[in-house]
Amino acid sequence: MTLSPAFLDELRARVSLSGVVGRRVKLSRAGREMKGCCPFHNEKTPSFYVNDDKGFYHCFGCGAHGDVIRFTVEQEGLGFIDAVKALAQEAGLAMPAPDPRAAEREAAAASLHDVTAAAAAFFAEWLAGEGGAARDYLGKRGVTPEIAAAFSLGFAPDSRTRLKTALASHGEARLVEAGLLVVPEGDSRASYDRFRGRLMFPIRDVRGRVIGFGGRILGDGQPKYLNSPDTPLFDKGRTLYNLDRAGPAARKSQRLIVVEGYMDVIALAQAGIADAVAPLGTALTEAQLALLWRYAPEPILCFDGDAAGQRAALRAALRALPLLEPGKSLRFATLPVGQDPDDLVRSGGAAAVERVLAAAEPLIDRLWRSETEGADTTTPERRAAVLARLDAHAAAIADPAVQRFYRSELRDRFYAQFRRPERTPWVKGERSTPSPGVLRTRRPDLRAAMVEQVLTACLLRPALIDAGFEPLAALRIADPRHDALRTALLDAYAGDAAPDADRLQSAVAARGAGDAAVTLLAAFRPGIGNLGFLRRDTPLPLAAAQFCRFLDALVADARLGDDIAVTNAHFRTSMAEGDFAAVRRNHEVRAELADGEAVNGAVGFAVINE
Ligand code: UTP
Ligand code: MN
Repeated sequence: MTLSPAFLDELRARVSLSGVVGRRVKLSRAGREMKGCCPFHNEKTPSFYVNDDKGFYHCFGCGAHGDVIRFTVEQEGLGFIDAVKALAQEAGLAMPAPDPRAAEREAAAASLHDVTAAAAAFFAEWLAGEGGAARDYLGKRGVTPEIAAAFSLGFAPDSRTRLKTALASHGEARLVEAGLLVVPEGDSRASYDRFRGRLMFPIRDVRGRVIGFGGRILGDGQPKYLNSPDTPLFDKGRTLYNLDRAGPAARKSQRLIVVEGYMDVIALAQAGIADAVAPLGTALTEAQLALLWRYAPEPILCFDGDAAGQRAALRAALRALPLLEPGKSLRFATLPVGQDPDDLVRSGGAAAVERVLAAAEPLIDRLWRSETEGADTTTPERRAAVLARLDAHAAAIADPAVQRFYRSELRDRFYAQFRRPERTPWVKGERSTPSPGVLRTRRPDLRAAMVEQVLTACLLRPALIDAGFEPLAALRIADPRHDALRTALLDAYAGDAAPDADRLQSAVAARGAGDAAVTLLAAFRPGIGNLGFLRRDTPLPLAAAQFCRFLDALVADARLGDDIAVTNAHFRTSMAEGDFAAVRRNHEVRAELADGEAVNGAVGFAVINE
């Protein structure tokens, strides 16, 4: 039985979450939420919060999280449907009636499965009997009879009527519906066998039932492969060849490989690589991506190293972006140019394939390479265009956390690689004069003051935490009380989708960082003398941009500080030419960072606020 999202929403709206939870847990009010001791783990001080408005509970102690259905499933030990039934009864909501047409559809599909199964048996019989040419062809390609049998390969006789006659008892209409017969258009000529003189690959659904076929011509000719049309059983965009066998293998190996062709899957299986599937001659669809992720967190897509293969890889990467979730991604393996996995495994064995798979790139690298390799970054406008494309890719990601990490990682890489072309701040051993606006964060008190401004801004305007989440998490904070406050802020923010300042401050206090927060807020003087992102009259998008640049500059400065300490120490002990060069390089970078866009922009821009 399937339940519509609309029905489930209605159910969630009708039952009170705190009412249901309250039967198990003593709840007390805490601002807009209720809290109590978590029923999912043992605790003495309450860290379990229930938010009726949003319909979610969350435990900051053990991370338990869910809605009223999840709570009922886990606390009452019921299955999903039973939990829904129990809650629906309580809410006086009638369960939706089963769809009568769904039953009909199921019955019709069941009889079509008989037809496709009979056709597969018919083809297999031909391969074993009169299909000598097909057996020879398989032999030439190195496919053993055992593997051919394991994949139920078959042969379609070169005739317009053999299958139609042999399967006549199923009725012509069913054979047409199953895609096995073709009905000529327009006139009243008779239907005839679709697959003639071809090596047949039965395509199975996840439950192992035959739902369609691919048929390969023996030798050269067009089309090379003929596939079943979409039928009530067979939907190309939602099917993956061999998933019924590769799925269980993938769960064991924690890996799922996607190759292009039927023959690739079969050749890999013969070499002992059982966790491979293939789409059916089309680019991967969203539905197929979702299927892949049910079996492995990072399926590996194999593409030819030629230009067409690499374009296909990029297309798959772009299609996957909106669907990424924490822990869920793709990897990209690049085959030697002009070789498919079938060729590779025959020339180099399973080891050659494993090497290619082991070198698979993460999605972010694939994306980065495609936008930056050979990119023209010689002018500010062109650099900005590259950055805009990188940002656009990050923006395509729906999951907020993954989006944040992509944006900041792509930007980090961008700034690391495409800094302004070299200038020469060192003239004949003479120190260049420091430019105005240099951020002298070598003075620890200034750095501490900047950190205080960051934390104060987060407390006053929680939306800034969202904007600067990752640099904020990466920031080195010397003062342990401020470090703890930062952790509490991130933690409180992550546990609440859109907290206002009051709620955030009490959540921070609940995490033991209340004193540090109060001290900062007490020291804060509102007014136009403040950095832009600290002023209430700065519109949020502008404040967020200023805040992020300020943070980025602080993070970059800390990293450089580490580098400088290490290289200076080396130089002091070695006094070597090479180490001195490193010391000099660091100073140049610092000079550039100090009067470069990042810091100047953050400080100047922020102070002037325009
Ligand atoms: P390939 O041309 O790479 O075929 O097409 P292959 O699997 O390597 O086959 P061999 O080694 O030449 O026998 C990859 C997939 O694209 C689909 C099929 O699903 C095939 O497995 N395809 C290809 C078609 O549907 N029709 C075609 O004409 C060609
Ligand atoms: Mn091939």
